[in-house]
Amino acid sequence: MKAITWLALSLILSASPVAAADGISGEREQELQNLLIQDCGSCHGLQMKGGLGPALLPEALRGKSAEYLSTVILHGRTGTAMPPWRFLLSEAEARWMAERLLQGVTQ
Ligand code: HEC
Repeated sequence: MKAITWLALSLILSASPVAAADGISGEREQELQNLLIQDCGSCHGLQMKGGLGPALLPEALRGKSAEYLSTVILHGRTGTAMPPWRFLLSEAEARWMAERLLQGVTQ
């Protein structure tokens, strides 16, 4: 009886959305989303249509891989205004952002 209760409890716990498969919590995803709109948006435009930095809309990024984009996000582009974000973001988080951009950031 006790074992069954424990099993049920662990099933409930493992099903809760504490962390996604990529290890990024829902709360952190919200922070990353805010960072995208506020910080990245300050150069790339609040709607990612471009400004000081180029547009980061799915159409503009077509053909570019999440791998390539997350490398630019982590390391920036030397000699341009694009700063490196590796001090604030993990590789998985930069990858999440790259995938978000490819899908289209919706507010
Ligand atoms: C201070 C301005 C600035 C900020 C802030 C900024 N960027 Fe950029 N970004 C640029 C510029 C300028 C370029 C173009 C660099 C070049 O000429 O190659 C760029 C390029 C990029 C590219 C490459 C686009 C491509 O088509 O190759 C990506 C991806 C990108 N930025 C993502 C981000 C993300 C995500 C953030 C926020 C975490 C961010 N940027 C914040 C200025 C900025």
